[in-house]
Amino acid sequence: MIGIFDSGLGGLSVLAAVARALPRAELCYLADTAHVPYGSKPDGFIQGRVLSIGRHLVDRGCRLLVVACNTATAAAVDELRRQHPGVPIVGIEPGIKPAAAASRSRKIAVLATESTARSERLARLIRDHAGAVDVTVTPCPGWATRVETLDLDGPAFAAEIAARIDPLLASGVDQLVLGCTHYSFLAPTLAPLVAGRAELVDVAAAVARQVVRLAGADSQGAGALALLATARPERLQAALPRLGLGWLATRIEHAAGLAQP
Ligand code: DGL
Repeated sequence: MIGIFDSGLGGLSVLAAVARALPRAELCYLADTAHVPYGSKPDGFIQGRVLSIGRHLVDRGCRLLVVACNTATAAAVDELRRQHPGVPIVGIEPGIKPAAAASRSRKIAVLATESTARSERLARLIRDHAGAVDVTVTPCPGWATRVETLDLDGPAFAAEIAARIDPLLASGVDQLVLGCTHYSFLAPTLAPLVAGRAELVDVAAAVARQVVRLAGADSQGAGALALLATARPERLQAALPRLGLGWLATRIEHAAGLAQP
């Protein structure tokens, strides 16, 4: 079984990419909805949650873990790997490398949570992969919470998104990196704002390819999907159609359950 987790709904964008790539794999998705959002919380808190959830999923029989959260990866993936040396662990990091390679203006921007934006891991990623490309890191407080409440395109939020994006486009940014898995679900709102001026960079499919490479025998099974949440699990399944993921419901065998890592 492959375990995939996030603070909430955002990692469903990664789950969807993995489910598409591995139609027969047994998948378990855990949303830490009792503690979402992570992005405004201290590193120590995020690390504690990631380590508890990792232990919980391994104890449930997961033999490969996917940290479907940029914030959790930046804060805790190294320690998670240290605690589970025998378990392959795939993290997710903002797509700085593909964005820098594709940029013609040599200006890119990363949209991320406050925690990811200030992380040493992101700074290193930029040092290692952006070369001479100018990178603007833009924290987007509150955006993940908007996605949690399924306010993906309400007028007030759409205006807030435009206010954050417009100056980046005006400065010549031509690649906009979605550095938080929740923001994948804002792509339909972002796309018309950036059309013809910038491309959105989402690495969910690249993460899924890495999962395929590491899955081994775990790529084969009955294709069942279990959804778990640390609070209000019923909201997870109910959110799927609104997020464009209604098709995932066919893989769910049991109603979403409460987990308490
Ligand atoms: N989905 C998460 C990420 O990729 C974090 C959102 C949050 O909980 O703040 O960064």
